[in-house]
Amino acid sequence: MKALVTYYSETGNTEKIARAIYEAIHIEKELKPIKDVQNAKSFDIIFCGFPCHAHSVPVKVTSFIKGIPEGKKIAFFSTHGSLRGGQLPKQAFEHAIGLASKTKVLGHFGCQGKVDRKVIDALMKQPEHKAWAEEALSAEGHPDQHDLADGKKFASDMITKLTK
Ligand SMILES: Cc1cc2nc3c(=O)[nH]c(=O)nc-3n(C[C@H](O)[C@H](O)[C@H](O)COP(=O)(O)O)c2cc1C
Repeated sequence: MKALVTYYSETGNTEKIARAIYEAIHIEKELKPIKDVQNAKSFDIIFCGFPCHAHSVPVKVTSFIKGIPEGKKIAFFSTHGSLRGGQLPKQAFEHAIGLASKTKVLGHFGCQGKVDRKVIDALMKQPEHKAWAEEALSAEGHPDQHDLADGKKFASDMITKLTK
């Protein structure tokens, strides 16, 4: 059994969760940014992480997800400025799951990730982004120790699901 933990991360938040997930996996494993993944075929499970962008999956990640071999087991993780468990990050996961329709999605995990203040200020001025930008202020300090611990728990649960 072999796991790939791969991620796209602009300011390091999603990478922190990727590293926590990687640490918690106790089967053969690899950790690398999405851009460095040559071949996903040889893995039994792919943990795929991304920051939520515009309530969705960043463009750089969509083509990777679409190219995941049919029938492959996937676990998605994401960081986002808006509150955990809310509608906005849920939308991003739904989008990711839709892109991965030929694969078997075992689960997903999300937590808040600190948002660049300049991004918040710019988006506050745009009515369509105001909802998450207001919530994003509370993302300061995330991912924190609890988020990392929850990410690890998620990783263990996914591996248990895989090997059951
Ligand atoms: C261009 C852009 C768009 C974003 N859009 C959203 C969004 O729609 N909803 C949200 O909750 N957070 C949004 N965020 C915040 C990021 O998802 C969050 O800060 C994330 O933790 C960044 O992860 P990273 O450091 O791995 O890049 C956005 C950030 C950027 C830069």
